[in-house]
Amino acid sequence: MELVEFELNGRSEAVAANPEEPLLDLLRRQFKLFSVREACGIGICGSCTVAVDGKQVSSCLMMAGQAAGRSIETLESLSEGGELHAIQQAFVEHNAFQCSYCTPGFVMATRELLEQNPAPTPDEVREHLAGNICRCGSYLKIVEAVTDAATRMQP
Ligand code: FES
Ligand code: FES
Repeated sequence: MELVEFELNGRSEAVAANPEEPLLDLLRRQFKLFSVREACGIGICGSCTVAVDGKQVSSCLMMAGQAAGRSIETLESLSEGGELHAIQQAFVEHNAFQCSYCTPGFVMATRELLEQNPAPTPDEVREHLAGNICRCGSYLKIVEAVTDAATRMQP
């Protein structure tokens, strides 16, 4: 075990952790951040997506020790004052999920997309979200929701 210090959803944290355990496990066990979900565990489904220094990362592939000195954000950081983020609201209104297991990963990936490209075409949405898998097959609704979220977030 070693002390790992990092910023988590805007707060400074210092936690004793096995530096070689997946960040995914640390976030769920130590911080109860259950939006971070494991499905494949090998970096191909996107269910465990978090932002590390603003870039989307599969937390199942990142070791806890690699979080040292970084800024980690999870879905839990998006809503403010009990209000859903515009991306979350668009997913809800478009019914862009069935079981919703994949949804936090899609929302985090969408956030990165819209930061890089505030008005993506449907093809650009599909391309950016290609690393996220929805086993329920909600892709059509997801693309609709992302496109709507982009509109809502226009200044
Ligand atoms: S659980 Fe991490 S990419 Fe699938
Ligand atoms: S809504 Fe079930 S896996 Fe995507």
